Amino acid sequence: MTIGIIGSGAMGSGIAQVVATAGHTVRLLDQNAQALQRANQAIETSLNKLIEKGKLTTEAAAKIIAQVHLTQDMQAFMDCELVLEAIVEDLAVKQQLFRELEMVVPETCILASNTSSLSIASIASACQQPERFIGIHFFNPAPLMALVEVIPAVQTRAGLAEEVRALVESWGKLPVLAKDTPGFIVNRVARPFYGEAIRLLEEGVAGIATIDWAMTELGGFRMGPFQLMDFIGHDVNYRVTESVFTAFFFDPRYKPSFTQKRLFEAGYYGRKSGRGFYSYAPGTASPVPTRDAELGQRIVQRILAMLINEAMDALFLNVASHPDLELAMTKGVNYPKGLLAWADELGLPQVLGTLDSLYDEYHEDRYRASPLLRRMVRDVANGC
Ligand code: NAI
Repeated sequence: MTIGIIGSGAMGSGIAQVVATAGHTVRLLDQNAQALQRANQAIETSLNKLIEKGKLTTEAAAKIIAQVHLTQDMQAFMDCELVLEAIVEDLAVKQQLFRELEMVVPETCILASNTSSLSIASIASACQQPERFIGIHFFNPAPLMALVEVIPAVQTRAGLAEEVRALVESWGKLPVLAKDTPGFIVNRVARPFYGEAIRLLEEGVAGIATIDWAMTELGGFRMGPFQLMDFIGHDVNYRVTESVFTAFFFDPRYKPSFTQKRLFEAGYYGRKSGRGFYSYAPGTASPVPTRDAELGQRIVQRILAMLINEAMDALFLNVASHPDLELAMTKGVNYPKGLLAWADELGLPQVLGTLDSLYDEYHEDRYRASPLLRRMVRDVANGC
């Protein structure tokens, strides 16, 4: 199969490596010649690491590299069966790109976008044949992250999502099917991991180091919320939060925080700028957590209840199936357990109790429990 990829930045180059490794011929296009060279270099470096680890032979790596054809000319996509776009996150620019692309590719060519925050329907609407359009959302770094969200738009023809799902699986990835709603699965369900942690900080319940300690040591997460936000970068994480909030018609559940907005405005992006919630300047002492088990459990219980509620609501609204929700959070953001399994472990009444007491205390809509959670607790109580 010949696959076109447009945009050879962080995502496009990683995706090119994935599909070339799966044996496809790749045409990788970027408007910027230097970006193409950087992508070539990045793929080589990544493959060399696999050779060093003994996971790839030199011959196999050379073959993969030879499969990736760099181009600046869209005519190269004449023989493509699938073209995936990973260019700048700008609706008008993406729409224009697909208008031009449709004049070149065969009528049967599948068109896809790797967008994180735009609706698939809005990009597809620029196409002459929107029924062949679909979202294929990878995670960064694409060669290492197994999860891929497949997102059919309202215009997408019946059956295409299943075809794409099978194709993505043949690349050695784990595809999940998501509804075309803001944040798809992962970027929606994970919001409270950041938002509720910041809220705890703002309220003065605990400091960043204590919250991070609680979530890693007691919660079992690989990174604490503040460590993770600093790692992702507040430029990226704040923008995602803001765009999800806007796209949800300003549902208070997704409301961004002033704390993160100020970091973003100040250019304190996190690790990449040397300062975020933590300071990364050489010689700076890290803040010490208060290792209070009771406080730690309260922190974990509150953030976890919010995450579980988000997953429950995504299930309630058919954003994704039960197994796909679990796969998305364990493989897309490496959560130690699926949130729905975690809910069962904790006991649904306890999760609902945590949310309801927060709601009673604050009278804020962000703490409203999902109707599904409430229904499940009632059904259990009634012996259903
Ligand atoms: P990037 O900035 O690293 O790369 C974008 C590339 O697209 C650049 O090389 C640029 O020269 C090229 N480009 C821009 N406009 C173009 C056009 N009209 N024609 C051809 N090439 C063009 O961006 P990144 O991070 O790779 O993101 C790309 C897309 O993937 C965005 O839609 C983003 O939302 C999405 N995404 C990003 C993730 C991330 O963690 N970085 C994760 C998942 C999705």
